[in-house]
Amino acid sequence: MCGIVAYIGGQDATPIVVDGLKKLEYRGYDSAGIAILDDGKIEIRRAAGKVALLETLIEKNPVQGTTGIGHTRWATHGAPSELNAHPHLGMAGRIVIVHNGIVENYLSLKEELVSEGVVFKSETDTETIAHLIEIFYNETNDLTAAVQKALKMIKGAHGLVVMSTVEPEKLIAARLGNAGGVALGIGENEMFIASDIPAIMGHTRKIVFLESGQFAIVRRDGFSIHDLEGNPVKSEIQNIPWDPIFAEKGKYRHFMQKEIHEQVRSLSDTLSGRVDFQDYRIILPGLNLNKEKAQKIKKIFITACGTAAYAGMVGKYLIEHIARIPVEVMVASEFRYCDPILEDGTVVLAISQSGETADTLAAMEEARKKGATLWSIVNAIGSQAIRIADGCISMQVGPEIGVASTKAFTAPILDLYMIAVYLADLRGTIDRDRRLELVKDLLTVPSLVEKALENDRAVKQIANRYKDIKGALYIGRGVNMPIAYEGALKLKEISYIHAEGYPAGEMKHGPIALVDKDLPVVVIATQDPWYDKVISQIEQAKARSGKVLAVATEGDELIPTIADEIFWIPKTPWLLSPAVTIIPLQLFAYHIAAFRGLDIDQPRNLAKSVTVE
Ligand code: AGP
Repeated sequence: MCGIVAYIGGQDATPIVVDGLKKLEYRGYDSAGIAILDDGKIEIRRAAGKVALLETLIEKNPVQGTTGIGHTRWATHGAPSELNAHPHLGMAGRIVIVHNGIVENYLSLKEELVSEGVVFKSETDTETIAHLIEIFYNETNDLTAAVQKALKMIKGAHGLVVMSTVEPEKLIAARLGNAGGVALGIGENEMFIASDIPAIMGHTRKIVFLESGQFAIVRRDGFSIHDLEGNPVKSEIQNIPWDPIFAEKGKYRHFMQKEIHEQVRSLSDTLSGRVDFQDYRIILPGLNLNKEKAQKIKKIFITACGTAAYAGMVGKYLIEHIARIPVEVMVASEFRYCDPILEDGTVVLAISQSGETADTLAAMEEARKKGATLWSIVNAIGSQAIRIADGCISMQVGPEIGVASTKAFTAPILDLYMIAVYLADLRGTIDRDRRLELVKDLLTVPSLVEKALENDRAVKQIANRYKDIKGALYIGRGVNMPIAYEGALKLKEISYIHAEGYPAGEMKHGPIALVDKDLPVVVIATQDPWYDKVISQIEQAKARSGKVLAVATEGDELIPTIADEIFWIPKTPWLLSPAVTIIPLQLFAYHIAAFRGLDIDQPRNLAKSVTVE
């Protein structure tokens, strides 16, 4: 997905827009550009590559003005290049736009425009929007009407901002469907627009989020929000509690490293306000539940993408074990197209850090269409996955900037555990003693994670020995089987080393053929109900000269005699162990990628939130 930033006010827009782009670069970073209204003219600066290259270009060829728009791109149509970088102009050079999303009918629109004599300069679908607005402006002599007409012609999901020399006193922002958010930041006689709030937080905490099918007319002294017919709609101004410092690296080399080490605080934050210490009870008002509604739940479908889906796989074990409610987990890109059977009493629970992932939002809409109750566990404040759900739990861990998700993986594990205890308590599946035991175990997790993080140096030494591997197999059982998948994904996405997560019990059904002295096997072998079974997997791998790197519980005396490397974690209640066993695997992937000198916060081909299919 792409990053959008815009400013209109009394300050110089260039540094505000460029700094905002840097804060959004994690959303897409193969090219970037800005357009500034400079003395009645639109000045554009664009560059392929990171925002830093755009900054260098602007230093060489400065541009100033009090109104500007900017964009960081994650290419969908047209290779990453200066030519395809946004912003894009209409033919007469009076209208310019930045855009997030895909114009699904752009080919037919482009053919029609070309037949009318429009000359395209880029390979992007976005440029069709700029030309459409310009053509409609020539007909209506009204920028707002021109934008409205263009919005009705383009198919797909979009977030966009329009600036012009014809009506320079306004910017027009619009949101159609789920192509990432469009947020308005309200300043003192100045306004900010961005696709995500880290770009705005340093200037104002007063934020309004556009809903799908809305556009905003934004002037320096205020704004109005309308539906596509132009009717005014009510908007809620939110005060965002996030501290801008979250969006800074501080003493760390990378945001991912900071966010791995932030998990002691972020796990405490996701628990805060949700434990009643009088009765050691979980309280989740965001789910709008009571005993009667809880009793009616017959099944929970968990749907998400990537790392969030692996957290959902842990949730299956937790909810089924604690609350005895059947749970099915399905990645959202499958759920949305498999015509799922959602009988009465089904809850569909979506998990999403960004709250804007296209597949996950589409799965939520599919669930809504089929009449299911819709819950979500989301991190990004004001995002679509919060707004469209019947009940929501905020991860409340602050913005996650690193593309490889870490704190937004461990937080939903605890949120799912709390949902399990909350449902079991409401339905009477557990008694008071069991509830006290489960809640007290939950409260130990932040300090257990802190202990696991204290082994960072040891993990780094292991990573140094394995930084040149060509592949790895990750295996686990039971509640830690999803950790094999998530550990493998971390290694893949930041070090570009192929790694495969697998249920440990499946080794003998094929993958063991891969094992030899060059293929390390990472095994989650902590003391849990499956421990003995995992031991035999380690021995099977060793018997084939495999190198075994085991995540083990401190004090274990057997594992050091059979494994080649140990990632130690503190003794942890086994139900909650996934939130701790993943810590050394996050660090392992991080250090290997760091040794390999890779771009850890912005890995190649990836974006922080995938708002396209
Ligand atoms: C995780 O490290 C990846 N960046 C990716 O799998 C991510 O978890 C997935 O795209 C889902 O994103 P979401 O949580 O914002 O919906």
